[in-house]
This record gives sequence, structure tokens and C-alpha cells, in this order.
Amino acid sequence: MQQNNQPLINNTVLVVDDDEVNREILTEILDDDYNLIVTASGEQALDVLDHGPALVLLDIMMPGIDGYETCRRIKELAGPDRRSPHVILVSAKASTTERVRGYEAGADDYLVKPFDEDELLAKVRVQLRLYDALSRLDRANAHNAARADVLENVVEEQSREIADSRDLVVFALAKLAESRDPETGAHLERIRAYCQILAEQLAADSPYAPLIDQAFIDAIYLASPLHDIGKVGIPDAILLKPGRLTNEEYDLMKHHTDIGADALEEVAGHSTGGGFLSMAIEIARSHHEKFDGTGYPNGISGHEIPLSARITAVADVFDALTSVRVYKSAFGPTVARSMIENDSGTHFDPVVVEAFCKRFDDFCEIRQHMNDEAVQSTPSAA
Ligand code: C2E
Ligand code: SIN
Ligand code: SIN
Ligand code: FE
Ligand code: FE
Repeated sequence: MQQNNQPLINNTVLVVDDDEVNREILTEILDDDYNLIVTASGEQALDVLDHGPALVLLDIMMPGIDGYETCRRIKELAGPDRRSPHVILVSAKASTTERVRGYEAGADDYLVKPFDEDELLAKVRVQLRLYDALSRLDRANAHNAARADVLENVVEEQSREIADSRDLVVFALAKLAESRDPETGAHLERIRAYCQILAEQLAADSPYAPLIDQAFIDAIYLASPLHDIGKVGIPDAILLKPGRLTNEEYDLMKHHTDIGADALEEVAGHSTGGGFLSMAIEIARSHHEKFDGTGYPNGISGHEIPLSARITAVADVFDALTSVRVYKSAFGPTVARSMIENDSGTHFDPVVVEAFCKRFDDFCEIRQHMNDEAVQSTPSAA
């Protein structure tokens, strides 16, 4: 066996015998190859067990506690991270009943006195090898348990990475949808920045503070770029029409809310999702609802409109107003601000408009710096 060439992890042998001559014989045979501890009684043997012998050569007939009892106590000391030493009982008693009694006490082998030196050495070697192999197994198991912990962390890490790449895919998808609208290259980046600012402002200083935690802010940052994902379902003839829509066309355009929300619900049904996906559904469906109930697709009003959608509505309209569209030119930020303030309470939630006004400078900053030149975006399709 290849393993026999490996040095033993533990080559300490404890000899226990009340007879001095026997102790001397055993010492002479074993002393060269093994690290020997020699004691004259069961009690002494139990005292030196802390020195961690791998093997105990144990006389049976001894004053005090005999070999059987000593063996039993040695084996009882085994713990989850402590392998008890192997025991070879050494005795002149060789009957089957004696041997059975020895094994019942937990002995691993039995040697009959007077013993043959080679037989003794062979049995010692076998038991030490066995002990060695089992100790290595213990180590491997402990290592595997530690590895299981590490693996768990790796799995967690990977889940995070999957979540990250899922967010990227989702953002790419939103971008693809927007890319057919030639004027809105940096729109998504601005939308998420506006939404983040509004959410932070509302969390810091508004009646909605208790509703907004960091998870909400993170979610709206991820989810808001998906608000118009449903535009993928709108024909180019309408989406890219360089003028005002007819009523019919506008009615069709309104479907982008349900188209997007339904598609996201489909995705949510097939994934563990995360809060951001359910928020994305809310936003896609309700970002064109109005506070007074005159919006679409459902004509819901006030707090029936999810907060995430009320926030996105302000961000979306501010960005649309201050941007050139195929169907309109851009308003300056100050004009856009007046228009939004004017629609506070009718189109928009007044609390959100108030937050917008408080952070107006930040909106202007973003509008000015996050443009199509500054933000790497899809090339203009038209
Ligand atoms: P969008 O261009 O991203 O505009 C989003 C929202 O910003 C609009 O939602 C509207 O509430 C507001 N908004 C945009 N431009 C103006 C404006 O000049 N004045 C005012 N007061 N508000 C403005 P809405 O109306 O539900 O439109 C949804 C989407 O439908 C728009 O997204 C756009 O893609 C499309 N759309 C709307 N009107 C027209 C149009 O006349 N022609 C074309 N080609 N598309 C239109
Ligand atoms: C609309 O409501 O038709 C879009 C905004 C506009 O261009 O007036
Ligand atoms: C609309 O276009 O219908 C209204 C936009 C707004 O309230 O600012
Ligand atoms: Fe929209
Ligand atoms: Fe939009």
C-alpha cells in the first residue's frame, strides 16, 4: 500500500503494564521506532492520555482498575474533534470469552503473552496505520465541513452576481426599447438619477419618510429605467411619428403601460425576482396615472397609485419636457418646473412635487451633464 510510505501523523504509543519486566521488554522492542510513554497502572494511563497516544498496549490483569475498565474509559474520552487511541489488549488469557470481553470493552486487537516480537510489531504497525488513516479522514471531513461553509459563501456571492447581471440585462432591454426613440439616449440614466434623488429627498424630509428605506431607493434606481419597456410593443409609425398623435394613435400608445407591466409580470413569474421586479411592474403600469384620477391605464388616483409610480411620473415628465422629442422641442428647466408645479395635485402628487422643487438644482445639474454626449448610449436609430 502506497499509504505505508507516508510518515505517521502520530506515532506515540502508550505502554501500560504493572509488571516491570514486561514494560522493559516492550520498551526495548518499540523504543527505536515509536515515541513511547510507559506507565504501570490503568490510573496512570488515564492520566497521561492528554499526551495523545495513537495506540495503547494495555495489560489486562493489573491491580486497581484492570485492562478492560481502562480500555472502556479510554474509549469514552473520544470527542467530536478527538479520536480515541486504538487499544491492543495484551494478556496471557487467550480464551474466546476473554477476547470477546476485550472487544466489548472497545479494544481494537488482542495480543497473547508470551508474544512473538514480529507479531507485536506487525499489530502495532497495523493499528497505527489504521489510526492514521482514520485521523486523515477526520481531517478531511473537518476540511469538507469548512469547505461547505466556503461554498455557501460562494453560492451567495454568485447569487449576487446573477442579480447584478440580471439588472444589467434588464437595463439593456430597457435601453433597447428606448433605442427606437432616437431622442432618448441618456433618458434612462437621467430617469434613475431623478428617481433616486426624489426618493432620498422624500425619505429625508417628507410625510413619506416611513415608507422609504434604502431598499426602496435601491429598487427604484433599478426599476425606473423599465417604465417605458412596453414601448417595444408600439409600432414605429406611432412611436417615431414626427408630429402629434391622432386620438386613435394616442390610445394605442397608452397600451405601452400594460404591455410593459404584463411582460415584467411574466418575467417575475419565472424568477425569484427580488423587490425591484415587483416595483418595476408597478412603475411600468402606473407611471402615467394622474393624482386626480384622469390618467391611464386604470384611472386610479391619489395613494391608489403606487408611490414608486408617483415618483417616476415627475421624473419622467421633467425629462420629457426638457428633452427634444420627435414630436416636440425642449423646454428649459425653469419652464418645465413651472409646468410641473402647475400640475401639482392634478397630474402629480403634491408631496413629490415639493421634493422635486427642493432638489431642483440637482435636477438641473443632471439635465445639464447627463446628456447623450456625456452618457455612453445607443446610437441614434434615425
Ligand atoms: P414621453 O415623450 O416620454 O413623454 C412622457 C410624458 O411626458 C407624457 O406622457 C406627458 O405626460 C409628458 N409630456 C411630454 N411632452 C410634453 C409636452 O410637450 N407638454 C406637456 N404638458 N407634457 C408633456 P403621455 O402624454 O402619456 O405620453 C406618453 C408617450 O406617448 C410619450 O412619452 C411619447 O412617447 C408618446 N407621445 C405622446 N404624445 C405624442 C405625440 O404627439 N407624438 C408622438 N410621436 N408621440 C407622442
Ligand atoms: C400628449 O399628451 O399628447 C403628449 C404631450 C404633448 O406633446 O403635448
Ligand atoms: C399631459 O401631457 O397630458 C399633461 C402633462 C403634464 O401634466 O405636465
Ligand atoms: Fe411612458
Ligand atoms: Fe419615458
